[in-house]
Amino acid sequence: MNQNSLLSMSDLSRNDIIHILNDASLFNVSYSDWQLPCHKALVANLFFEASTRTHFSFESAELQLGCKVADVQTSVSSVTKGETLYDTCKTLESVGYDCLVIRHKQDAYYKQLEGINIPILNAGDGAGDHPTQCLLDLLTMYQEFGTLTGLNVLICGDIQHSRVAASDKTALELFQSNVLFAGPEEWKREGYKHVDFDEYLEKADVVMMLRIQKERGAALADMSDAEYLEQYGLTKERYGRMKKNAIIMHPAPVNRGVEIDTDLVEAEKSRIFKQMSNGVLVRKAVIKRAFGYAPFEEKK
Ligand code: CP
Repeated sequence: MNQNSLLSMSDLSRNDIIHILNDASLFNVSYSDWQLPCHKALVANLFFEASTRTHFSFESAELQLGCKVADVQTSVSSVTKGETLYDTCKTLESVGYDCLVIRHKQDAYYKQLEGINIPILNAGDGAGDHPTQCLLDLLTMYQEFGTLTGLNVLICGDIQHSRVAASDKTALELFQSNVLFAGPEEWKREGYKHVDFDEYLEKADVVMMLRIQKERGAALADMSDAEYLEQYGLTKERYGRMKKNAIIMHPAPVNRGVEIDTDLVEAEKSRIFKQMSNGVLVRKAVIKRAFGYAPFEEKK
């Protein structure tokens, strides 16, 4: 596997994360026009699962960096004829692609890609990991609080099926933040510290709401959307009890009126769309790293 791949947050040290976030921040100021010097980087995006944010923010980042981009139409690729993911990736490597961005429904799909020599950027694997989402979450928290240490982060909803919950837990604990989980009993995850949403809400710096991942089999019997919102969602009443400087986050897509009241999606405390803009900066930093470039120096 190429050493510049990004597969899981558990592969990154604190220093690696700091370098990526620093580069992402500098892309927003002094390095906004920086491009890959040779302008010939060929990147293939392979999305085997639905995506709007990750797919198109990767594409935006690639185009801003001067990459040439192939959007592989996975539904009409030879995977549908029975070709393995490995053979598809090896084919793209053989015909000249320099980097692969892959989203796949299978947990840790990348373990079957050991023999691929070009960097692979994981755009989400099943309920496993979502490293670039995690990095954009960290950047959003850092912008807000000036630190990633000592934060109280409350993640609420479908924890069991959430790769975002898994990645954010790994990274935030590396920085000694306190990550707690709430939501239906059915979706508790072993090794995760679960608390009562209403009891912990007023202590949280970050309240992160998660969508019910129906595509991964999540379902609650006999509960309407309105009942779910009342019992487990971020209602206006709960919003009113959040700390003065606390923020709302959500990886999106949002199911309005289910895990969050529709009027709160763009409320003052919401950083949901800020997370999406940060996603482009983080993905630029991760692509730059994939092509072997050292972290930026601060410009004097
Ligand atoms: N947050 C996220 O991964 O969104 P998409 O599924 O739209 O990429």
